[in-house]
Amino acid sequence: MKTLIVYGSKHGCVEKCSKDLKNKLHGEVVIADIKKGNVPDINLFDNIIIGGSVYVGKIQKEITKFCSQNINKLKEKKIGLFICGMIDEEKGKEELNNVFTEELLSNAVAKGYFGGEVIFSKMNFFERFIIKKLCKTDKDMSNILYENINKFAQMMND
Ligand SMILES: Cc1cc2nc3c(=O)[nH]c(=O)nc-3n(C[C@H](O)[C@H](O)[C@H](O)COP(=O)(O)O)c2cc1C
Repeated sequence: MKTLIVYGSKHGCVEKCSKDLKNKLHGEVVIADIKKGNVPDINLFDNIIIGGSVYVGKIQKEITKFCSQNINKLKEKKIGLFICGMIDEEKGKEELNNVFTEELLSNAVAKGYFGGEVIFSKMNFFERFIIKKLCKTDKDMSNILYENINKFAQMMND
């Protein structure tokens, strides 16, 4: 069984979660950073996991494009979808349903909200301003939901 994890990440949180997920999956797992543009041919994989982070309600545009360009092939695979974000878990699940299409969501065997982190030194002025409003703090925060990553891996492994 071969799994491809395609992810989009701005400051590294989705990348960190993808690596953690990789260690929990059975079989061969390849990770591809969509922004680096080196996504392998999805025909070579049985399972495809797609993840990204939410910025002002939207996932990376490269992820949206990847999903729409490959929708027919993706529907033939075992699919998992996840996002990172700093909103509370219930709203995070809503965000997941908003950033992926219904067609993809209804074909996914695993859907996960993995939480997120904010590291102020990695952000520009605009990002700091938004995050102070969203998280009501100006301190670094890590809220990665490792238990959700475990559950997601289990669903993919089943
Ligand atoms: C400018 C900005 C806007 C954000 N907007 C949202 C949002 O709408 N919803 C959310 O859940 N998280 C939001 N976040 C939090 C990020 O999704 C979170 O920090 C995530 O872990 C980033 O992952 P990455 O480093 O892989 O890009 C925002 C963060 C920034 C800096």
